[in-house]
Amino acid sequence: MRIAMIGTGYVGLVSGACLADFGHIVSCVDRDGRKIAALEGGEMPIFEPGLAELVGKNVREGRLSFSTDLRGPVKTADTIFIAVGTPSRRGDGHADLTYVFQAAREIAAAVDGYKVIATKSTVPVGTGDEVARIIAEARPQLPVSVVSNPEFLREGAAIGDFKRPDRIVIGAEDERARKVMTDVYRPLYLNQAPMLFTDRRTAELIKYAANAFLATKITFINEIADLCERAGADVQDVARGIGLDNRIGPKFLNAGPGFGGSCFPKDTMALMKTGHDFGVPSRIVETVIAVNDQRKRAMARKVIDVLGGNVRGRTIAVLGLTFKPNTDDMRDAPSIAVITALQDAGARVRAYDPAGIKQAKTLLDNVEYSSDAYACADAADALVILTEWDEFRALDVDRIRAKLKRPILVDLRNIYRPEEMAQQDFTYVSVGRATRKQA
Ligand SMILES: NC(=O)c1ccc[n+]([C@@H]2O[C@H](COP(=O)([O-])OP(=O)(O)OC[C@H]3O[C@@H](n4cnc5c(N)ncnc54)[C@H](O)[C@@H]3O)[C@@H](O)[C@H]2O)c1
Repeated sequence: MRIAMIGTGYVGLVSGACLADFGHIVSCVDRDGRKIAALEGGEMPIFEPGLAELVGKNVREGRLSFSTDLRGPVKTADTIFIAVGTPSRRGDGHADLTYVFQAAREIAAAVDGYKVIATKSTVPVGTGDEVARIIAEARPQLPVSVVSNPEFLREGAAIGDFKRPDRIVIGAEDERARKVMTDVYRPLYLNQAPMLFTDRRTAELIKYAANAFLATKITFINEIADLCERAGADVQDVARGIGLDNRIGPKFLNAGPGFGGSCFPKDTMALMKTGHDFGVPSRIVETVIAVNDQRKRAMARKVIDVLGGNVRGRTIAVLGLTFKPNTDDMRDAPSIAVITALQDAGARVRAYDPAGIKQAKTLLDNVEYSSDAYACADAADALVILTEWDEFRALDVDRIRAKLKRPILVDLRNIYRPEEMAQQDFTYVSVGRATRKQA
């Protein structure tokens, strides 16, 4: 099959490379000329484990190519994916569909026969109808099928998620499109990945419902963590105790600084707006958004409190800036709110992240960046772990203690054990567990 992928960001590039690896001929299109030039030069625009190898292999074997012009790829494709961004709209926070509709108009102008146009971007329910309308208006005689095919991959594990998905959701309104989409995913189908066929609106809503549910799970355990701190319980054990119940499951029950990233914040917001549009407000989602927003800044309070209520002029060392490990994505990372709150309180912030510093520099002012965790800790008044990169899980704690001005560790991801850190002479603050004072 021939596939055109419109939008070569996290989702478009990973999906395009994986579909090429299945044996399809894929052309990844992006209007960002620098991104395409970099890809043609073998350089990855994003940090994603295994991606450079996968892209390189499929380019060499002639199944993956890049372009800034969608006309050629669209004309020859059987299936055209729309994988452009749908950020929060400035002003009201609803999903900004400018890029999706622009892509639809460009596709409409280039298309010249039956095609399946599949929206991979996360879009509010009803967007597929609008895409179909745009195309029908521009090209009334053209037989096209507009399909919703939401993407569930996670950054940092994107290739594995795409190749071994929990499920594939296809929202199609006609049999012909269903057949084409089955062919696109046939290699996965052979691996028994469940394929769920629904109507288009249902598929669009499945994506938002999934993300809102996961965001709710995180927010729930974060509130339980706060209660644990006050009541003298341990949230790690509570999470394990409930997660072992099959009806609940253990995932997304890690208490921490609140959810962030390129999807949950904008998607919960868009679902809230959709609820309002349909006159069916989602109180649960609204509360999740509000609780999570307050939480990020509140995490800075933990740092301020352990330093006696005043951080003016103090140096705080921060490990981890990206919203999760194994990505360089800084979009809506909790680190932004936590660091800004510390700076507002007068602290100097020094930070280290294995992959996110370049992006962080565009989003955070007045942060001094270090080349590793130990340089970051040097003469700092406290060390804060904000993202659970593997390299922070096994720090040489003696070396860290020797570097710090005071042995204070604020672990917002609960990656160390309170008893062990107390034995190591740290004052150790974590989430949903008792604070251990330096012995
Ligand atoms: N990032 C994730 O983990 C993830 C996971 C699942 C779903 N999604 C959804 O997938 C969509 C894409 O997300 P992303 O993170 O890949 O975004 P991104 O910002 O990384 O990439 C989008 C790309 O589309 C390009 N683009 C915009 N308009 C274009 C046009 N008319 N023609 C060609 N290229 C165009 C941009 O230049 C950009 O490179 C969003 O709706 C997002 O919610 C993202």
